Amino acid sequence: MGAVATTLMAGVEFSRRGLREPIGAFTQTGWITNANGERRRVVDAFGFGDLQRVVFGGVDLIENNALDAARTAGVLSAEDLALVADYLATVKAGPGVHDAIYVRTLETMQTLPETNKYAQAEAMTRVFRDFFAREGCASGVVLLTLSTEAWRPLAPCHADEAAFIAGLKANDPEISPSQIYAWAAFEAGYPVVNCTPNVLLEVPALQARAVARGVPFAGSDLKSGQTLLKTVVAGGLAKRLLGVNGWFSTNILGNRDGFVLDVPENFRAKEISKGGVLEDILDAKEQPVLYKDLVHQIHINYFPPKGDNKESWDSIQLFGWLGYAMEIKINFQCRDSILAAPLVLDLALLMDLAARKGETGIQSWLGGYFKSPAGRPGEAVINDFSLQIEIIENKLRSWL
Ligand SMILES: NC(=O)c1ccc[n+]([C@@H]2O[C@H](COP(=O)([O-])OP(=O)(O)OC[C@H]3O[C@@H](n4cnc5c(N)ncnc54)[C@H](O)[C@@H]3O)[C@@H](O)[C@H]2O)c1
Repeated sequence: MGAVATTLMAGVEFSRRGLREPIGAFTQTGWITNANGERRRVVDAFGFGDLQRVVFGGVDLIENNALDAARTAGVLSAEDLALVADYLATVKAGPGVHDAIYVRTLETMQTLPETNKYAQAEAMTRVFRDFFAREGCASGVVLLTLSTEAWRPLAPCHADEAAFIAGLKANDPEISPSQIYAWAAFEAGYPVVNCTPNVLLEVPALQARAVARGVPFAGSDLKSGQTLLKTVVAGGLAKRLLGVNGWFSTNILGNRDGFVLDVPENFRAKEISKGGVLEDILDAKEQPVLYKDLVHQIHINYFPPKGDNKESWDSIQLFGWLGYAMEIKINFQCRDSILAAPLVLDLALLMDLAARKGETGIQSWLGGYFKSPAGRPGEAVINDFSLQIEIIENKLRSWL
């Protein structure tokens, strides 16, 4: 329960109290056209407006309530936090599953007492079941917004459900806390959204378990700032058939996420999720003259004075008619969690809708929300933002 999670909770409470508009949330302010060409507000078409019925809870390794966590995150001003402090103080964060192999730079304050991974998964399953039962929820979604874990490749314990259960029982170091949370959520019967770059959607055992338990699964890593702009601009350049031979991206950020990402193994997870986004848009197979020489580099630097106000720079080397070179520079001075929070609200409501519509397993139609959109085996990956939005609208239109 960090910057993204608490900014989401605070924003929903601001909306509920009529203090601010839910800006950036498609489920609250978007429109959709039905098969007869009639435009409707998404919020009315799918009954997404009753935010009073939404309840939040969570786990964390450090803070035990959303108010303290929001203060640490430092996203909202003290004046704004004061307006919803009474509510945030009521949202408790219980102890979580910790493994220093995956996040080694955080000083943890509360962790589950269980040391065996199978026992941790069982304990988290109870936590999820008890929370939703206690709150009287008809349905629920588990949103994974924990820190970026050290990247590790898939191992034999990930191959299928039986191998995963054996791995949990044997305390296999290749099973991460994120994977334990996802497994536990499926055991409790809840959909999972991976808002992080952590290795989850790629795990065959988790894909199979989501289907076996009849729940949807989506990820990975919110497409909130630099990658959003990248996939918008690249889509435009590709449609104009301009060549691109260099895309250099760098960032500075100073929040806790940036602190964790300062460890090379943790940065690797982000590098992978950010790194693949241009390949299908600037397609070297279809347009070798335009894109075969593309060099794409990504750098992230932890710079504490920036806090959550991340700054990104992109330097794009492009060429046009007769091969003449040009450059585009983008400097996005964004607020990371302000961009991320409405995406998480959308994902919670859309995944809940998907579950009610009987969808199970990977929800590739939600790819527009993610830096590294997961598809089902054999499905083409689409990163172009305008195409991704079309896919989301088409899916929702089929449910109107
Ligand atoms: N902030 C954004 O805009 C943004 C955008 C895209 C993706 N993300 C990703 O979302 C995730 C969260 O980002 P954030 O900015 O909220 O980070 P954050 O550091 O503010 O919050 C993460 C929280 O997770 C907790 N945590 C770490 N390991 C845990 C575990 N095993 N169990 C339970 N809690 C654990 C930490 O104590 C921390 O409070 C990161 O992976 C980040 O890369 C964030």
